[in-house]
Amino acid sequence: MSLFWTVFIAGLTLLNIAACWWLISWTRRGGTEPAQPGETTGHVWDGDLTEYNNPLPAWWLYLFYLTILFGVLYLLLYPGLGAFEGLLDWDQEKRYARELEAAELRYAPLYQAYAAQPIPELAQDAQAMQTGGRLFAQHCATCHGSDAHGGPGFPNLTDQAWLHGSEPAAIRTTIAQGRQGVMPPFGGQLDAEQLAGVANYVYSLNGREAPGGDELSAVGQQVFSTYCFACHGADGSGNTAIGAPNLTDDAWLYGGDLETITTTIADGRTGVMPAHAERLGEARVHLLAAYVYSLGGTPAEPAATADATPPGAMAPPTPGVAAEPEPAS
Ligand code: HEC
Ligand code: HEC
Repeated sequence: MSLFWTVFIAGLTLLNIAACWWLISWTRRGGTEPAQPGETTGHVWDGDLTEYNNPLPAWWLYLFYLTILFGVLYLLLYPGLGAFEGLLDWDQEKRYARELEAAELRYAPLYQAYAAQPIPELAQDAQAMQTGGRLFAQHCATCHGSDAHGGPGFPNLTDQAWLHGSEPAAIRTTIAQGRQGVMPPFGGQLDAEQLAGVANYVYSLNGREAPGGDELSAVGQQVFSTYCFACHGADGSGNTAIGAPNLTDDAWLYGGDLETITTTIADGRTGVMPAHAERLGEARVHLLAAYVYSLGGTPAEPAATADATPPGAMAPPTPGVAAEPEPAS
């Protein structure tokens, strides 16, 4: 705060307090006894209702003085007078930092214990997942949505489509170090027919009928095997090493309608997942990786087949138990 504002605010505040003090003293003028017993203010209501001109009772006045004293004391102890920090050195930022430190001390052993568990195991721990869910809401939901379903440009973390890999280690690396997906723009390299063709071809890759017909798609296939296969694979199934999406499934990062596909190819895209290791620490990143893993998008590992119900999923109903009415006896 500049000197001018400090002087301005402190001066105005103190002036107000002094004025209150003066006003109260002034109304007290004649001491606490009435100047002349029975004297009225001269105001008359409802015909004969008059008002005595008595001074304020002493106890009432002292309450005013007390509030003024309280104000002055408060301004001495706490920040309030411009840049003056107060004698108690109370500071909300320092207080916040102290609280953070205390919380860190309290929770560190818990996070440390979580960090020692493998991600698939941690993902089964209901209490850990509750904490993980809170961390997710705080740090990830702005982009991925509170239900982790994402939106255009922000991947859905609950489905089976993965840009950068579904293995626990890959998820943790994604969160810790961040990722960047670079789809180069092809608007300058392809002529109109090639662009329309390859958009049609991509549109048809997941089994849909391309609106432009087979001929255009054939042009598109040619373009695809020249420009696109290096990243998206010859069959369009993608490459998690560089974050190139699988173009043959129903999951779309930016949108699967012909118009959006054409825009993506012509203008390119760059999705950025920010790195979180420095901000959150490895232990929280580990817990978050387990949380993302628990969302069920990772295919169950072959070893754990029999009861591989993902946590949070409902157990399949046992056939014939509640569905059938009790036979009347
Ligand atoms: C250098 C590697 C590279 C090449 C070459 C490349 N892509 Fe991509 N493509 C990517 C990456 C990476 C993404 C994901 C972008 C992101 O994460 O923001 C992507 C995204 C896309 C998407 C969006 C998919 C979705 O789910 O919304 C489409 C469509 C696409 N590419 C089509 C093509 C076509 C068609 C070509 C050839 C003309 C092509 N790409 C060439 C790397 C590449
Ligand atoms: C600023 C927005 C933003 C925030 C915050 C954010 N993400 Fe992301 N995240 C993205 C984007 C964008 C991508 C896709 C990157 C790409 O296009 O390759 C992504 C990708 C991912 C992926 C990879 C998905 C896949 O298909 O491989 C995971 C896992 C992930 N984020 C988890 C998280 C978690 C956990 C947090 C919270 C700690 C988080 N993200 C916070 C924007 C964000």
